[in-house]
Amino acid sequence: MMKTAKSGLDRILTIELVRVTERAAVAAAKLRGRGDEKAADQAAVDAMRSELNRLPIDGTVVIGEGERDEAPMLFIGEEVGTHEGPTVDIALDPLEGTTICAKNLPNSLAVIAIAEKGSLLNAPDVYMEKIAVGPGYPDTIVDIDLPPAEMISRIAEAKNVPVAEVTACILDRPRHARLISEVRDTGAAIRLIGDGDVAGIIDTTLPDETGIDIYMGIGGAPEGVLAAAALRCTGGQMQGRLILDSEEKVSRARKMGVDDPNRVYDLMDMASGDVLFSATGVTDGNMLSGVKFKRTWIETNSIVLRSFSRTVREITARHQDMDKF
Ligand code: FBP
Repeated sequence: MMKTAKSGLDRILTIELVRVTERAAVAAAKLRGRGDEKAADQAAVDAMRSELNRLPIDGTVVIGEGERDEAPMLFIGEEVGTHEGPTVDIALDPLEGTTICAKNLPNSLAVIAIAEKGSLLNAPDVYMEKIAVGPGYPDTIVDIDLPPAEMISRIAEAKNVPVAEVTACILDRPRHARLISEVRDTGAAIRLIGDGDVAGIIDTTLPDETGIDIYMGIGGAPEGVLAAAALRCTGGQMQGRLILDSEEKVSRARKMGVDDPNRVYDLMDMASGDVLFSATGVTDGNMLSGVKFKRTWIETNSIVLRSFSRTVREITARHQDMDKF
Protein backbone atom coordinates (compact mmCIF):
# COMPACT_ATOMS: atom_id res chain seq x y z
CA MET A 1 0.00 0.00 0.00
CA MET A 2 1.67 3.21 -1.13
CA LYS A 3 -0.66 5.76 0.42
CA THR A 4 -0.71 6.70 4.08
CA ALA A 5 -3.12 9.12 5.75
CA LYS A 6 -0.19 10.80 7.46
CA SER A 7 1.79 11.73 4.41
CA GLY A 8 -0.59 11.75 1.45
CA LEU A 9 0.67 10.16 -1.77
CA ASP A 10 3.85 8.16 -1.59
CA ARG A 11 6.70 10.62 -2.04
CA ILE A 12 8.62 8.23 -4.23
CA LEU A 13 6.07 9.03 -6.93
CA THR A 14 7.45 12.56 -7.11
CA ILE A 15 10.63 11.28 -8.68
CA GLU A 16 8.80 8.74 -10.80
CA LEU A 17 6.63 11.51 -12.20
CA VAL A 18 9.50 13.50 -13.62
CA ARG A 19 10.32 10.63 -15.98
CA VAL A 20 6.88 11.03 -17.49
CA THR A 21 7.33 14.69 -18.43
CA GLU A 22 10.99 14.23 -19.41
CA ARG A 23 10.04 11.58 -21.90
CA ALA A 24 7.20 13.63 -23.39
CA ALA A 25 9.37 16.75 -23.58
CA VAL A 26 12.17 14.98 -25.45
CA ALA A 27 9.71 13.50 -27.95
CA ALA A 28 8.17 16.92 -28.61
CA ALA A 29 11.54 18.68 -28.71
CA LYS A 30 12.66 16.47 -31.58
CA LEU A 31 9.94 18.23 -33.59
CA ARG A 32 10.61 21.78 -32.37
CA GLY A 33 10.43 24.43 -35.02
CA ARG A 34 9.09 22.13 -37.76
CA GLY A 35 5.79 24.00 -38.07
CA ASP A 36 3.85 20.79 -37.40
CA GLU A 37 1.84 21.21 -34.19
CA LYS A 38 -0.02 17.94 -34.60
CA ALA A 39 3.08 15.81 -35.06
CA ALA A 40 4.80 17.35 -32.04
CA ASP A 41 1.69 16.90 -29.91
CA GLN A 42 1.23 13.29 -31.02
CA ALA A 43 4.85 12.46 -30.27
CA ALA A 44 4.48 13.93 -26.78
CA VAL A 45 1.21 12.07 -26.18
CA ASP A 46 2.67 8.71 -27.23
CA ALA A 47 5.77 9.18 -25.10
CA MET A 48 3.87 10.41 -22.04
CA ARG A 49 1.38 7.57 -22.26
CA SER A 50 3.99 4.85 -22.47
CA GLU A 51 5.93 6.22 -19.48
CA LEU A 52 2.75 6.84 -17.50
CA ASN A 53 1.74 3.23 -17.94
CA ARG A 54 4.90 2.20 -16.11
CA LEU A 55 4.00 4.20 -12.98
CA PRO A 56 2.87 2.20 -9.96
CA ILE A 57 -0.52 3.92 -9.77
CA ASP A 58 -4.14 3.11 -10.44
CA GLY A 59 -4.80 6.31 -12.33
CA THR A 60 -7.68 7.89 -14.20
CA VAL A 61 -7.17 10.80 -16.57
CA VAL A 62 -9.56 13.61 -15.58
CA ILE A 63 -7.91 16.41 -17.56
CA GLY A 64 -6.48 15.01 -20.77
CA GLU A 65 -6.40 15.23 -24.51
CA GLY A 66 -10.18 15.45 -24.81
CA GLU A 67 -13.23 13.29 -24.57
CA ARG A 68 -13.01 9.63 -25.57
CA ASP A 69 -14.59 10.10 -29.00
CA GLU A 70 -12.18 12.86 -29.99
CA ALA A 71 -8.90 11.66 -28.44
CA PRO A 72 -7.61 8.15 -29.09
CA MET A 73 -5.09 8.42 -26.26
CA LEU A 74 -4.98 9.98 -22.83
CA PHE A 75 -8.66 10.76 -23.19
CA ILE A 76 -10.73 11.77 -20.18
CA GLY A 77 -11.60 8.60 -18.33
CA GLU A 78 -8.66 6.54 -19.64
CA GLU A 79 -7.13 4.35 -16.98
CA VAL A 80 -3.37 4.50 -16.77
CA GLY A 81 -0.54 3.13 -14.67
CA THR A 82 0.25 -0.42 -13.57
CA HIS A 83 -2.90 -0.52 -11.38
CA GLU A 84 -0.72 -1.58 -8.48
CA GLY A 85 -0.42 1.61 -6.48
CA PRO A 86 -2.66 4.32 -5.06
CA THR A 87 -5.88 5.32 -6.79
CA VAL A 88 -5.25 8.76 -8.26
CA ASP A 89 -6.70 11.30 -10.65
CA ILE A 90 -4.46 12.76 -13.33
CA ALA A 91 -4.37 16.07 -15.16
CA LEU A 92 -1.96 16.23 -18.06
CA ASP A 93 -0.89 18.16 -21.09
CA PRO A 94 1.87 16.28 -22.90
CA LEU A 95 2.64 19.39 -24.93
CA GLU A 96 1.39 22.65 -23.44
CA GLY A 97 1.97 25.24 -26.14
CA THR A 98 1.79 23.21 -29.35
CA THR A 99 2.14 26.35 -31.48
CA ILE A 100 5.10 27.55 -29.43
CA CYS A 101 6.83 24.23 -29.99
CA ALA A 102 6.04 24.22 -33.71
CA LYS A 103 7.51 27.73 -33.99
CA ASN A 104 10.35 27.05 -31.53
CA LEU A 105 9.38 29.98 -29.30
CA PRO A 106 9.80 30.16 -25.50
CA ASN A 107 7.83 28.38 -22.78
CA SER A 108 6.35 25.16 -24.14
CA LEU A 109 6.22 22.43 -21.53
CA ALA A 110 5.29 18.82 -20.92
CA VAL A 111 3.08 18.88 -17.81
CA ILE A 112 1.37 16.45 -15.47
CA ALA A 113 -0.28 16.55 -12.04
CA ILE A 114 -1.50 13.60 -10.01
CA ALA A 115 -3.71 13.92 -7.00
CA GLU A 116 -5.72 11.84 -4.60
CA LYS A 117 -8.89 10.51 -6.22
CA GLY A 118 -11.66 13.08 -6.52
CA SER A 119 -9.46 16.04 -5.71
CA LEU A 120 -9.01 17.66 -9.15
CA LEU A 121 -11.71 19.80 -10.75
CA ASN A 122 -13.10 17.91 -13.74
CA ALA A 123 -13.07 20.95 -15.98
CA PRO A 124 -14.57 20.77 -19.47
CA ASP A 125 -12.47 21.96 -22.38
CA VAL A 126 -13.79 25.51 -22.39
CA TYR A 127 -12.21 28.86 -21.56
CA MET A 128 -11.57 29.96 -18.01
CA GLU A 129 -11.07 33.46 -16.68
CA LYS A 130 -8.03 33.31 -14.40
CA ILE A 131 -6.11 35.44 -11.98
CA ALA A 132 -3.04 34.21 -10.11
CA VAL A 133 -0.18 35.41 -7.94
CA GLY A 134 2.71 33.64 -6.28
CA PRO A 135 3.36 33.12 -2.56
CA GLY A 136 4.00 35.82 0.03
CA TYR A 137 0.88 37.98 -0.38
CA PRO A 138 -1.84 38.54 2.21
CA ASP A 139 -4.59 35.90 2.03
CA THR A 140 -7.46 36.74 -0.30
CA ILE A 141 -5.47 39.32 -2.27
CA VAL A 142 -6.78 37.98 -5.56
CA ASP A 143 -10.34 38.82 -6.49
CA ILE A 144 -11.49 37.96 -9.99
CA ASP A 145 -14.31 40.51 -9.77
CA LEU A 146 -12.08 43.44 -8.94
CA PRO A 147 -11.35 45.93 -11.77
CA PRO A 148 -7.86 45.16 -13.13
CA ALA A 149 -6.53 48.56 -12.04
CA GLU A 150 -7.49 47.86 -8.43
CA MET A 151 -5.93 44.43 -8.58
CA ILE A 152 -2.67 45.91 -9.84
CA SER A 153 -2.63 48.55 -7.12
CA ARG A 154 -3.24 45.86 -4.48
CA ILE A 155 -0.16 44.02 -5.73
CA ALA A 156 1.95 47.19 -5.75
CA GLU A 157 0.84 48.02 -2.23
CA ALA A 158 1.55 44.53 -0.94
CA LYS A 159 5.00 44.57 -2.55
CA ASN A 160 5.56 48.10 -1.34
CA VAL A 161 6.62 49.28 -4.80
CA PRO A 162 5.20 51.82 -7.25
CA VAL A 163 2.63 50.44 -9.70
CA ALA A 164 5.19 50.98 -12.47
CA GLU A 165 7.22 48.15 -10.95
CA VAL A 166 4.43 45.59 -11.30
CA THR A 167 4.33 43.27 -14.32
CA ALA A 168 1.24 41.36 -15.39
CA CYS A 169 1.36 38.40 -17.75
CA ILE A 170 -1.51 38.29 -20.26
CA LEU A 171 -2.15 36.12 -23.33
CA ASP A 172 -1.89 38.22 -26.48
CA ARG A 173 -5.43 37.82 -27.79
CA PRO A 174 -7.99 40.28 -29.21
CA ARG A 175 -10.37 39.26 -26.39
CA HIS A 176 -7.93 40.90 -23.97
CA ALA A 177 -7.82 44.32 -25.65
CA ARG A 178 -9.76 45.99 -22.84
CA LEU A 179 -7.86 44.22 -20.06
CA ILE A 180 -4.54 45.19 -21.67
CA SER A 181 -5.51 48.82 -21.99
CA GLU A 182 -6.83 48.99 -18.41
CA VAL A 183 -3.63 47.48 -17.04
CA ARG A 184 -1.47 49.78 -19.20
CA ASP A 185 -3.42 52.81 -17.99
CA THR A 186 -2.24 52.06 -14.45
CA GLY A 187 1.40 52.40 -15.53
CA ALA A 188 2.12 48.70 -14.88
CA ALA A 189 4.03 46.65 -17.43
CA ILE A 190 2.60 43.71 -19.34
CA ARG A 191 4.40 40.58 -20.53
CA LEU A 192 2.30 39.59 -23.51
CA ILE A 193 2.62 35.90 -24.27
CA GLY A 194 1.61 34.21 -27.50
CA ASP A 195 0.59 30.97 -25.81
CA GLY A 196 1.33 28.90 -22.74
CA ASP A 197 -0.50 30.25 -19.73
CA VAL A 198 0.47 27.31 -17.50
CA ALA A 199 4.03 28.66 -17.66
CA GLY A 200 2.66 32.21 -17.31
CA ILE A 201 0.96 31.30 -14.03
CA ILE A 202 3.86 29.27 -12.66
CA ASP A 203 6.11 32.22 -13.46
CA THR A 204 4.29 34.29 -10.81
CA THR A 205 5.76 32.03 -8.13
CA LEU A 206 9.30 33.30 -8.80
CA PRO A 207 8.83 36.97 -9.72
CA ASP A 208 12.47 37.87 -9.09
CA GLU A 209 13.56 35.34 -11.68
CA THR A 210 10.76 35.62 -14.21
CA GLY A 211 9.79 39.26 -13.80
CA ILE A 212 6.08 38.35 -13.58
CA ASP A 213 3.99 39.36 -10.56
CA ILE A 214 0.47 38.49 -11.61
CA TYR A 215 -1.29 36.51 -14.32
CA MET A 216 -4.61 37.83 -15.64
CA GLY A 217 -7.00 36.88 -18.40
CA ILE A 218 -8.76 34.10 -20.23
CA GLY A 219 -7.15 30.81 -21.25
CA GLY A 220 -8.06 27.14 -21.33
CA ALA A 221 -9.86 25.64 -18.31
CA PRO A 222 -7.81 22.41 -18.38
CA GLU A 223 -4.64 24.53 -18.28
CA GLY A 224 -6.19 26.38 -15.34
CA VAL A 225 -6.48 23.17 -13.33
CA LEU A 226 -2.89 22.22 -14.15
CA ALA A 227 -1.64 25.62 -13.06
CA ALA A 228 -3.71 25.42 -9.87
CA ALA A 229 -2.11 22.05 -9.08
CA ALA A 230 1.31 23.68 -9.36
CA LEU A 231 0.36 26.63 -7.17
CA ARG A 232 -1.00 24.26 -4.51
CA CYS A 233 2.55 22.99 -4.20
CA THR A 234 4.48 26.25 -4.40
CA GLY A 235 2.08 28.50 -2.54
CA GLY A 236 0.29 31.33 -4.24
CA GLN A 237 -3.30 32.26 -4.89
CA MET A 238 -5.54 31.78 -7.88
CA GLN A 239 -9.16 32.15 -8.85
CA GLY A 240 -10.86 30.80 -11.96
CA ARG A 241 -14.30 31.00 -13.50
CA LEU A 242 -15.44 28.84 -16.39
CA ILE A 243 -16.75 30.69 -19.42
CA LEU A 244 -19.93 28.82 -20.25
CA ASP A 245 -21.42 31.11 -22.85
CA SER A 246 -23.70 28.65 -24.65
CA GLU A 247 -26.30 26.09 -23.65
CA GLU A 248 -24.08 23.38 -25.11
CA LYS A 249 -21.17 24.35 -22.84
CA VAL A 250 -23.39 24.64 -19.78
CA SER A 251 -24.74 21.16 -20.40
CA ARG A 252 -21.28 19.71 -21.09
CA ALA A 253 -20.05 21.24 -17.85
CA ARG A 254 -23.07 19.93 -15.97
CA LYS A 255 -22.29 16.41 -17.16
CA MET A 256 -18.85 16.84 -15.61
CA GLY A 257 -20.35 17.87 -12.27
CA VAL A 258 -20.43 21.67 -12.61
CA ASP A 259 -23.75 22.74 -11.10
CA ASP A 260 -23.18 26.48 -10.84
CA PRO A 261 -21.94 27.92 -14.18
CA ASN A 262 -20.86 31.18 -12.50
CA ARG A 263 -18.92 29.66 -9.66
CA VAL A 264 -15.57 31.16 -8.77
CA TYR A 265 -13.06 28.40 -8.05
CA ASP A 266 -10.09 28.95 -5.79
CA LEU A 267 -6.98 26.79 -5.55
CA MET A 268 -8.50 24.24 -3.20
CA ASP A 269 -11.59 23.92 -5.41
CA MET A 270 -9.40 23.12 -8.41
CA ALA A 271 -6.79 20.92 -6.73
CA SER A 272 -7.27 19.66 -3.20
CA GLY A 273 -5.76 16.69 -1.37
CA ASP A 274 -2.12 15.76 -1.87
CA VAL A 275 -0.92 16.84 -5.30
CA LEU A 276 2.27 16.02 -7.19
CA PHE A 277 3.23 18.09 -10.22
CA SER A 278 5.96 17.82 -12.81
CA ALA A 279 6.84 20.03 -15.78
CA THR A 280 9.76 19.66 -18.20
CA GLY A 281 10.79 22.41 -20.59
CA VAL A 282 10.40 21.62 -24.28
CA THR A 283 11.61 24.98 -25.56
CA ASP A 284 13.66 27.41 -23.44
CA GLY A 285 11.52 29.38 -21.04
CA ASN A 286 11.60 31.94 -18.24
CA MET A 287 12.01 29.28 -15.59
CA LEU A 288 13.02 26.08 -17.36
CA SER A 289 15.46 25.39 -20.15
CA GLY A 290 14.28 23.42 -23.13
CA VAL A 291 15.59 19.98 -24.06
CA LYS A 292 19.22 20.06 -25.22
CA PHE A 293 20.44 17.47 -27.67
CA LYS A 294 24.16 16.90 -27.08
CA ARG A 295 26.40 14.54 -28.97
CA THR A 296 26.27 11.75 -26.38
CA TRP A 297 23.39 12.69 -24.12
CA ILE A 298 20.08 14.50 -23.96
CA GLU A 299 19.63 17.09 -21.23
CA THR A 300 16.27 17.92 -19.69
CA ASN A 301 15.29 20.53 -17.12
CA SER A 302 12.22 19.99 -14.94
CA ILE A 303 10.48 21.18 -11.82
CA VAL A 304 8.82 18.61 -9.61
CA LEU A 305 6.53 19.75 -6.85
CA ARG A 306 4.71 18.11 -3.97
CA SER A 307 1.93 19.85 -2.08
CA PHE A 308 2.25 17.85 1.13
CA SER A 309 5.80 19.01 1.83
CA ARG A 310 5.74 22.07 -0.47
CA THR A 311 9.08 20.90 -1.84
CA VAL A 312 10.17 22.45 -5.11
CA ARG A 313 12.81 20.40 -6.90
CA GLU A 314 14.52 21.51 -10.03
CA ILE A 315 15.95 18.50 -11.79
CA THR A 316 18.44 18.69 -14.61
CA ALA A 317 18.97 15.24 -16.06
CA ARG A 318 21.46 13.87 -18.55
CA HIS A 319 19.99 10.95 -20.40
CA GLN A 320 22.89 8.93 -21.75
CA ASP A 321 20.85 5.97 -22.87
CA MET A 322 19.69 7.88 -25.90
CA ASP A 323 18.15 4.83 -27.56
CA LYS A 324 15.45 4.94 -24.89
CA PHE A 325 14.11 8.09 -26.50
P1 FBP B 1 -2.25 24.30 -26.69
O1 FBP B 1 -1.06 23.64 -26.10
O2 FBP B 1 -3.45 23.42 -26.67
O3 FBP B 1 -1.92 24.85 -28.03
O4 FBP B 1 -2.64 25.51 -25.71
C1 FBP B 1 -1.88 26.68 -25.67
C2 FBP B 1 -2.63 27.79 -24.94
O5 FBP B 1 -1.95 29.00 -25.16
C3 FBP B 1 -2.82 27.56 -23.45
O6 FBP B 1 -1.67 27.81 -22.69
C4 FBP B 1 -3.92 28.53 -23.16
O7 FBP B 1 -4.60 28.22 -21.94
C5 FBP B 1 -4.83 28.37 -24.37
O8 FBP B 1 -3.97 27.90 -25.42
C6 FBP B 1 -5.47 29.65 -24.82
O9 FBP B 1 -6.40 29.35 -25.81
P2 FBP B 1 -6.52 30.19 -27.19
O10 FBP B 1 -5.28 29.92 -28.01
O11 FBP B 1 -7.74 29.65 -27.85
O12 FBP B 1 -6.62 31.62 -26.83
